[in-house]
Amino acid sequence: MLKEIFEQPDALANTIRGRLDPAGGTAFLSGLSLSPRELAAVRRVVIVGCGTSLHAGMVGKYLFEKLADIPTAPEQAAEFRYSNPIVGPDDWVIALSQSGETADTLAAVRESIRKGALVSGLCNVVGSTIAREAGRGVYLHAGPEISVASTKAFTAQVTALLMTALKLGRTRRLSFEDGDRLVKEISRLPELVGKVLEGNDAIAKVAEKYAKADDMFFIGRGMLHPVALEGALKIKEVAYVHAEGYQAAELKHGPIALLSEKTPVVALLADIPGKEKTLGNVQECRTRMAPVVGVVTEGDEAAAAAVTDALVIPKTCAELSPIVTVVVLQLFAYHVARLRGCEIDQPRNLAKSVTVE
Ligand code: G6P
Repeated sequence: MLKEIFEQPDALANTIRGRLDPAGGTAFLSGLSLSPRELAAVRRVVIVGCGTSLHAGMVGKYLFEKLADIPTAPEQAAEFRYSNPIVGPDDWVIALSQSGETADTLAAVRESIRKGALVSGLCNVVGSTIAREAGRGVYLHAGPEISVASTKAFTAQVTALLMTALKLGRTRRLSFEDGDRLVKEISRLPELVGKVLEGNDAIAKVAEKYAKADDMFFIGRGMLHPVALEGALKIKEVAYVHAEGYQAAELKHGPIALLSEKTPVVALLADIPGKEKTLGNVQECRTRMAPVVGVVTEGDEAAAAAVTDALVIPKTCAELSPIVTVVVLQLFAYHVARLRGCEIDQPRNLAKSVTVE
């Protein structure tokens, strides 16, 4: 797991390589085999996946809606396949799967094809069943992911979704200037993730303080909400800590009753709209004596001062904040698991690829 976390700058460089188009302020994604006219005709995007891939799809919703103004619904693949889904020729169904073999995601692809939707696969494994059956898509090129807990596939998926949203946006109302700004920022991604990895020792130190906790909460707003879910999932998977991810605003509708000095809250405080409101939620947690670990942007003294322990991420735009933030949470989960003596690369009851229902 640690090896794959540290591979992320290279993995993302490979996901991005040859796919940015600075002259057009957009992305080249030739595997999609969709003309601008076909992309412009899409009325709705549905993103299907399971586990970590589902969380990447949930980030994708915010990216597609923000950059391309297109309604986007992330759907858990098993729920989707059994819901007699309402999809058709105006819908673009994007199946996210690292392995390309997850049974429920594959079934969702088949059902969408049957119903006449446009279908694409975003897979890491070249030639996998979902990639072949979808017939068109984007390969992540993140390199083999062996660890059961998915790390580099998640960041590569979000990067691929971001480039897809950029391309879709440029067939609509996203201006060249905004596209150009994103192209420049995406090309810095490997360097930004490299900076997060330099904080590994600091993250390990903070993990020492919280490694004995039996329950944790992860909170975030907007596109950081799915990152909170992913942070909670990582720590469940490898450290066997009971953890829940919540929209920051939802905490007061029940879960706050569980807060005490024994329940650390990890608050995602990157610079995106709503950060000030999340800081308000941090205050509510601290009033209940819960220690708060904040993932904060470098130089954001106010956020750092509001939390018990701050873990720092480099400055970037909102669209990239899920990626730099999740890398901190991956390392945090890894160190908590290590300190609890867990078999990180052989987590109990989990399989890398779920090819049965
Ligand atoms: C399993 C793995 C997860 C993964 C999920 C979806 O549950 O343990 O790490 O996110 O399957 O896998 P996929 O290959 O479709 O992304």
